[in-house]
Amino acid sequence: MTPASVPGTDFNIEDSNPTDNASIAQVLDARLSRRGLLRGAMGAAGVGTLAATGLSGCATAGGSLPAAASQLGFNPVAKSLADAVVVPEGYTAQIVYALGDPLTASTPAFKNDGTDTDFGNRAGDHHDGMEWFGLDAQGKPSRNANLRGLIAMNHEATTDEKLASFFLHANGGTATLPRPAEEVDKELMIHGLSVVELQSDGKQWAYKPGSAFNRRVTTMTEAVIHGPARGSEHLVTKYDGTGSKARGTLNNCGAGKTPWGTYVSGEENWFGYFFRDAKDDDARKKDKQVQALKRYGRKAGEASRHGWESAGSDDRFVRWNNSAIGTSAKDDYRNEMNTFGYVVELDPYDGKALLRKRTALGRMGHENITFARVVVGQPVVAYMGDDARGEYIYKFVSEAKWDAADASGANRLAAGDKYLDKGTLYVARFKDDGSGQWLELSMDNPVIAGSSYFEFKSAADVAIFTRLAADAVGATKMDRPEWAGVNPKNGEVYITLTNNSNRTAATADSANPRVYTDMKGSKEQKGNVNGHIVRLAEKQPHDDRFRWDIYLFASEAGADRGSVNLSGLTDENDLSSPDGLVFSKASGICWIETDDGAYTDKTNCMLLAALPGRLGDGGEKTLTYGDKQVRTHMGKEQTTATFKRFLVGPKGAEITGITETPDGCALFVNIQHPGENTKMADIADPAKYESRWPTNVGYGAGQRPRSATIVITRQDGGVVGA
Ligand code: FEO
Ligand code: CA
Ligand code: CA
Repeated sequence: MTPASVPGTDFNIEDSNPTDNASIAQVLDARLSRRGLLRGAMGAAGVGTLAATGLSGCATAGGSLPAAASQLGFNPVAKSLADAVVVPEGYTAQIVYALGDPLTASTPAFKNDGTDTDFGNRAGDHHDGMEWFGLDAQGKPSRNANLRGLIAMNHEATTDEKLASFFLHANGGTATLPRPAEEVDKELMIHGLSVVELQSDGKQWAYKPGSAFNRRVTTMTEAVIHGPARGSEHLVTKYDGTGSKARGTLNNCGAGKTPWGTYVSGEENWFGYFFRDAKDDDARKKDKQVQALKRYGRKAGEASRHGWESAGSDDRFVRWNNSAIGTSAKDDYRNEMNTFGYVVELDPYDGKALLRKRTALGRMGHENITFARVVVGQPVVAYMGDDARGEYIYKFVSEAKWDAADASGANRLAAGDKYLDKGTLYVARFKDDGSGQWLELSMDNPVIAGSSYFEFKSAADVAIFTRLAADAVGATKMDRPEWAGVNPKNGEVYITLTNNSNRTAATADSANPRVYTDMKGSKEQKGNVNGHIVRLAEKQPHDDRFRWDIYLFASEAGADRGSVNLSGLTDENDLSSPDGLVFSKASGICWIETDDGAYTDKTNCMLLAALPGRLGDGGEKTLTYGDKQVRTHMGKEQTTATFKRFLVGPKGAEITGITETPDGCALFVNIQHPGENTKMADIADPAKYESRWPTNVGYGAGQRPRSATIVITRQDGGVVGA
């Protein structure tokens, strides 16, 4: 662990320690020349414009934080189908960290033609959730640093057609089985997390390729199982017969920052990476896991997303075959899937500390993790969504009570052990009178301990088979819960429900009330096509009761005002499929990102800014489906004073991951999978790519599109969005 004298790190930080603006400028110049760019010399549509204006930046203006925004101080951007990042007038967006960027000084520049290797030392793909971790001028952890810091980031997935992550391979790769080992090795290393050092001279930002803090965590990095599932028979694998170790993290989607200053990341669609033999149900005999495997999306005979298990007999490939093919669980990987689906915790300041899988927070398709404001002497509370159609909203309440000394303790992961390994997991049930209940998922709940639906024998079973526990207690099936965010003004919790093509009039309920048809060209889209955002209020975060309403119904501006566009959206703020949602601690602005496929005939995905009111500021609404009436509760209608579009991304990209410097003057946003609708057969013809961002604005070599982090600043140096 780290030395107690320094709250933070045992790194040699010499290499990452510019002490004045001159050395920062040298770093920037070196960085930019690697990209073939000159500082301040570039101008292209949308992102890529490096600020040449003399911004002072509020970060450099002195210590005090700006007051919370009382209005949204920018002109909304129009919907856009351009292959560019569009931000409001008066703002600059700069690309700082893209797929393949070298994380060490000796890693070759990214050629971006499918021949690059060594992804253990490069930025991963599909940038997703991320958080800022400040560094002071000496390279020590700092809660207030605005010009230098680390970004910890998820690399969720890759852009695929059939089996191959085709932009990563020279000719698009092999989309048939067996997959070549050299292709699979790249794909194994490009998933996971990264930690990267960023710095600004007050004008421009750059990442630092040689920083000793830079780090990758991949599908191959050792992780430690923590919490109630540790040691479970259902976690025993050939890799670890004790059920206490696992390898890697996978399909990391949303993220969060703990009150003690570490990074937490949610493993989302991990189940798709596993193969199951067609005869595996029989091979497992009476194993109760057959039911759980189906519930978690892997029935016998299911093919894997990439065919990694087909690449050879080495353990790193075989582990993706989640079948009972050995004589016992110690001889095979029948339990490998059970080592994924958790919240994982990383200390971004400590490159030697192992990842910890926090099983007390349950196993599901985790999106982000957001914490209620901590109160001394009260439990720590975290909210989480399980993103699949008809899944649930969860919260975790720690057993340990918050001690303010832990906010800046030297051993951050020990604080993680204290607050995240013991506690109670709850799942939400919504009632049509606007109230709701958090249902306890533990062996103390007789509905679970005595369940005839699934055999729960222990707290480990509840932690591993969480979805089945939530089924057993009768939680409310939601329209794909994505990110949760807590309003710093009043503690209310906002949860995006991105869309649900399975919602029907028969299953419509008070908290998931909309069912309609929308046209995309000639294609009919049904269900809750555009998604909504639910809002909860609790007297105290650890209460088991809440009140709720629907803060926002996402919709096309032109949709029916009585049944679809219930929030009164207009061209300046209409959206589809809200996903990322974060409240700025600096400005109080609620940032909402979209990951959409329903409205993409009219606009690329976007980022919007909101100044929400509070629960109950709207009224009741009844929707009618034939003989059925659905009563719901909604927030007040929106206007451009409270909600407007801030950014539109390039073609084929989702907008995801968002974090800021503590002063709110630099907003980091991830552009994930630009060009994802490109056909693998067109790999040799860049003119046919759906997107060529960010190379089309001069970032890096080649023409293949790349996921990337951008940083948005105000040209007058003020707080972003305010
Ligand atoms: Fe990875 Fe639910 O988005
Ligand atoms: Ca439409
Ligand atoms: Ca997401």
